[in-house]
This record gives sequence, structure tokens and C-alpha cells, in this order.
Amino acid sequence: MLFDPHKCLGFTCRLLTLVACALLAFSLFLFEACSSKTSPADKSIFSPALKNALATRSAIPSPDVQACAACHPAEFESWMKSQHAVANRLVDAEVDAAHFQLEQSVANSALRTSTAWTEEQFSIVETDSNDVAATYEPVAVIGVEPLIQYLVPTEGGRLQTANVSYDTRSNEWFNSQETEYEPEAWQHWRNRGMTWNSQCAFCHMTGFEKNYDPATDSYDSSWQAMGINCVQCHGDVDAHMKDMSVLPTSSGLSSNQLQSACASCHARREELTGGFAA
Ligand code: HEC
Ligand code: HEC
Ligand code: HEC
Ligand code: HEC
Repeated sequence: MLFDPHKCLGFTCRLLTLVACALLAFSLFLFEACSSKTSPADKSIFSPALKNALATRSAIPSPDVQACAACHPAEFESWMKSQHAVANRLVDAEVDAAHFQLEQSVANSALRTSTAWTEEQFSIVETDSNDVAATYEPVAVIGVEPLIQYLVPTEGGRLQTANVSYDTRSNEWFNSQETEYEPEAWQHWRNRGMTWNSQCAFCHMTGFEKNYDPATDSYDSSWQAMGINCVQCHGDVDAHMKDMSVLPTSSGLSSNQLQSACASCHARREELTGGFAA
């Protein structure tokens, strides 16, 4: 040991200890000062009660994945580079600021939607033909390239997919809903067709539970992690985590079974061949 406190009796040694303590206190102060600054990623997505647990689990990599990484570093490295890892993530003050700094407007005949960024928050502002504005604060993101879609919280625990999306090739915002839907239409971005909890999350998240309550028409959704991580593909890993000689349920699957596992998300109900018949 370089510094043994039990042997520290001389004056120089005590002075050093004092200096070290002062430095530690100062760096803790700095840490506290920095971490109390709110970034968009700190914002609560659903009810405040869920905030802490879900925010911790929503970090990429999540604590679960870090546990796997300790023994499977190669798989971890390649997964971190994949789009699965960030298929759904919280807004990131650095990555997303570049998009919102553009402060671009996208208009159709009924609405003008603009994006903006301040030190405090990102926003999507929708202004109707009577100049009435509604401001939405994106909290999460789907997609890597060529398209990024932002998710905004609305009533009843919902996240809705905003209609202005970001094109990573031309670096500009555009309206991803070319058709102008009436606000009552199922497909309108604020309606059920674009509700993340029921329409997107089961393919973009890990261990997602929708938790819809028909009585109140609201969601209390939860998840194990954001994005698609090890656990989503390798199934029940609890026993493996307790005893690594018990392999995850995914082990020993045939190539057909493996492909079926991918197809649960990757098949968009398109015909694979012209002569397809069921
Ligand atoms: C304490 C170390 C340890 C931890 C933690 C761990 N594993 Fe493993 N895992 C092993 C060992 C050892 C094997 C068996 C040898 C091998 O195939 O690498 C194994 C095997 C596997 C296999 C099967 C490989 C095959 O050949 O079929 C998968 C899949 C796997 N682990 C996934 C995971 C996931 C996902 C996690 C995190 C939830 C995890 N492991 C956590 C040590 C660990
Ligand atoms: C839980 C749903 C889900 C499962 C299961 C799944 N994928 Fe994906 N995959 C996605 C989503 C969503 C994306 C797009 C991520 C994005 O761009 O935001 C994606 C992207 C990809 C990509 C794009 C390139 C990249 O860098 O990641 C490949 C390749 C891919 N998946 C292969 C596979 C294979 C092979 C399997 C089966 C072993 C599989 N996926 C299983 C949902 C899934
Ligand atoms: C049935 C599973 C499934 C559902 C449901 C789903 N996605 Fe995806 N999504 C995928 C897969 C698989 C990919 C990657 C491969 C691809 O692009 O076909 C993907 C890719 C994306 C991308 C990346 C850009 C792109 O086009 O490749 C975006 C953005 C996206 N999805 C948004 C959404 C939104 C928003 C919803 C809900 C309104 C949604 N997805 C629902 C499976 C799904
Ligand atoms: C999109 C689904 C998917 C995700 C996400 C995923 N894996 Fe895998 N993994 C697979 C498939 C499929 C195989 C089998 C590949 C084969 O048989 O060639 C595999 C193989 C493995 C193996 C066996 C060694 C090998 O190369 O055959 C280990 C260990 C493993 N994965 C660990 C992990 C860990 C750890 C993570 C997260 C950091 C992870 N996987 C994320 C689908 C996935």
C-alpha cells in the first residue's frame, strides 16, 4: 500500500492528509455543482415515482448489460457499435443539440412546426393557422440513420412520435407525415396510430411492458432497458447470472429458430417471395 493511514503519525504526513481531504472535499463540491445542473436527459418521462428507477435503467449501456460485459467483452464491444444498442434512447444534450440548434420550421397548410433549443430544453412548437402555439419537449429518440424520430410526452403516460423528423443525410428537419391528417384521425401524430407505448416500443425496447389501463385510457409503461440489448435476444438470463454454467435459454437454437427470433421485429409483414401462399 502506498499510503497507510495507520502509520501516519508525523507532521508532514498529517499535513498531506489535510491537503488531500481538502482536495477531496473541493472535488465533491464541483461534482455536486455539475450534477445538479439539469440536462434534457434528466427530465421525467412518465410519473415522477418511476423517474429514478427508469432513468437508471434507460442509460446505455444499462446496468444489466454492464454485468454481461464483464464476462463477454467482445460481444459487448460489437453490440455497443450496433444500432440495436441505441434503437431507442433518451435525448442527449450533446448529440441532439446539433439538430435543435438548426431552429428550422416545417410548414403544411394548417400548421407550422418549428424546433428550438435553449440551455434548458429542446422544444418542438406547433403553431396553428390562428397563431395558437403548443410546445412539446422531446424526451426520447428512435432511430439512428437515415431517420431520427423524437418522442414527446402527452397525457395519460403516452409518448407520441412527433411528425417533424430529422434526416441525418441532408441534416434537416422534414414532415414525416406527408398526408395532412385531421386531428381526429387515427394516424394523426397525436393519436393512437403514433403512440409509442402501443405502436413502437415492443420492437425498439428491452423487456417492455405496456401496462395499459382501459378504465382510465392511460399507460403506466415500464421497461428493463432502452434499445435492444443482450437480454431481449438471449432470453431468460437470471439462472445464467447466478451460475454461468447454466447457459441462457437462447443457447442451442437452430438457425431457423434464431431467424424467427429476429423476424419478430424485422418482418414487417411483407411478402418474402412473389409466389408466397399461406
Ligand atoms: C461471471 C461471468 C459471466 C457473466 C456475468 C455472464 N456470462 Fe454469459 N457465459 C459465461 C460463460 C463462462 C459461458 C460459457 C462459455 C462461453 O460460451 O463463453 C457463457 C455463455 C453465454 C452464452 C452462450 C454461448 C453459447 O456458446 O451458446 C450466452 C448467449 C451468454 N453467456 C450471454 C450472457 C448474457 C446476456 C449475460 C448478461 C445478462 C451474461 N452472459 C453474463 C460467463 C458469464
Ligand atoms: C426486439 C426487436 C428486434 C430483434 C429481436 C432484432 N432486431 Fe435487429 N433491429 C431492430 C431495430 C428496431 C433496428 C433499428 C435500430 C435503429 O435504427 O434505431 C434494428 C437494426 C438491425 C440491423 C441494422 C444494422 C445495425 O448496425 O444494427 C441489423 C443488421 C439487424 N437489426 C439484425 C438483426 C438480427 C440478425 C437479429 C436476430 C438475431 C435481430 N436484428 C433481432 C429490432 C430488432
Ligand atoms: C414490428 C416491429 C417494429 C415496430 C412496431 C416499429 N419498428 Fe421501427 N424499426 C423496426 C426495425 C426492424 C427497424 C430497422 C430495420 C428497418 O429499417 O427495416 C426499425 C427502424 C426504425 C427507424 C430507423 C430508420 C429506418 O427507417 O430504418 C425509425 C426512426 C423507427 N424504426 C421508428 C419507429 C416508430 C416511430 C415506430 C412506432 C410508430 C416504430 N418504429 C415501430 C421495427 C419496428
Ligand atoms: C439482436 C439480438 C442479439 C443481441 C442484442 C445480442 N445478441 Fe448475443 N447472439 C445473438 C445470436 C443470434 C447469437 C448466435 C450467433 C451464432 O450462432 O452465430 C449470439 C451469440 C452470442 C454469444 C455466443 C458466442 C458466439 O459468438 O456465438 C454470446 C456469449 C453472446 N451472444 C452474448 C451477448 C451479449 C453479452 C450481448 C449484449 C452485450 C448480446 N449477446 C447481444 C443475438 C443477439
